[in-house]
Amino acid sequence: MVSVAILGAAGGIGQPLSLLMKLNAHVTKLNLYDIVNVTGVAADISHVATNSEVKSFLGADKLAQAVTDVDLVIIPAGVPRKPGMTRDDLFKINAGIVKGLVEAVADNSPRAFICIISNPVNSTVPIAAEVLKGRGIYDPKRLFGVTTLDVVRASRFVRDIRPKIDAATLRIPVIGGHSGNTIVPLLSMASTPLDLSETEIAELTNRIQFGGDEVVKAKDGAGSATLSMAYAGARFADSLIRAIKGEKTVEPTFIHLAADEAGAEAYRKLGVGSLEFFAVPVELGSQGVARIMPLNGNVTDGEREAVAVAVNALDANISTGLNFVRHSA
Ligand code: NAI
Repeated sequence: MVSVAILGAAGGIGQPLSLLMKLNAHVTKLNLYDIVNVTGVAADISHVATNSEVKSFLGADKLAQAVTDVDLVIIPAGVPRKPGMTRDDLFKINAGIVKGLVEAVADNSPRAFICIISNPVNSTVPIAAEVLKGRGIYDPKRLFGVTTLDVVRASRFVRDIRPKIDAATLRIPVIGGHSGNTIVPLLSMASTPLDLSETEIAELTNRIQFGGDEVVKAKDGAGSATLSMAYAGARFADSLIRAIKGEKTVEPTFIHLAADEAGAEAYRKLGVGSLEFFAVPVELGSQGVARIMPLNGNVTDGEREAVAVAVNALDANISTGLNFVRHSA
């Protein structure tokens, strides 16, 4: 029995993500919330022959109901990028949206696991943390920034240059944040040794960091990644749901390192220093973050340098998020 609410369910990500969660056999209740168009989306998805009950919640006055008695809330609400925009350009609009939605979750399902897709993830996750702290119910083990698309891209882009690799099972830890050079793929720690040249490493790293731009450019003003993001979001949600049900699963995700300070130590030594939030591979358990996974080997000099660049940018992104809530209280 797992109840899931998707906030922003009528959007480009929200619709396919809702469909994929309808296909998840562990999900028993699926609450779809949006400020537009969600009635039709929910009616459509409700005809899919799986056992979960789908309900639609349209408009701000239905938000509280949508997030009452739910175990897991996934948030893809907000505006996406257009060509020439960075994820930080979205901050002004999406910060307020995420703040309002997380306040409603805090008031109606204070123990819910919250997965944030809305960009800029590097700032919206600190916003959510600050809101939850303000309500006195913050548990860093239950809040996740969804960076799975970076992980998915890493596996797929490696396969583009190593066609014998199985993209579906290859795992590459991607740490840091979720925008441009805050995304740090640890190609040296891939689940299958890749034997890449320096040039291949540099090109792959750049493609993983800026892969989102390929989609923004190809969509030419019609938005950013939605279908691959829905796949990635559903994969993360499934890992979390299986963990809630007692399995141990591992996914990299952008979390508050306070969720496991002992586990965070290895990453702090890598150059993360006193940064509060960082994407790390996490073992998920029934209470959310079970532990931060140790680094699986020695990072290369190049990876260490990439972490240093990421940390500088992340520091600013995190402060922007925290200050948004502190100064709008
Ligand atoms: P979209 O514009 O197609 O859909 C957004 C949906 O949010 C719309 O249906 C809209 O009505 C809804 N919405 C707006 N304000 C709302 C509110 N206050 N409450 C509830 N719903 C609200 O955008 P798309 O493409 O689905 O992207 C959504 C977000 O996901 C963007 O911020 C985008 O940057 C982000 N994103 C994140 C990725 C990640 O890897 N974490 C990857 C790709 C996109």
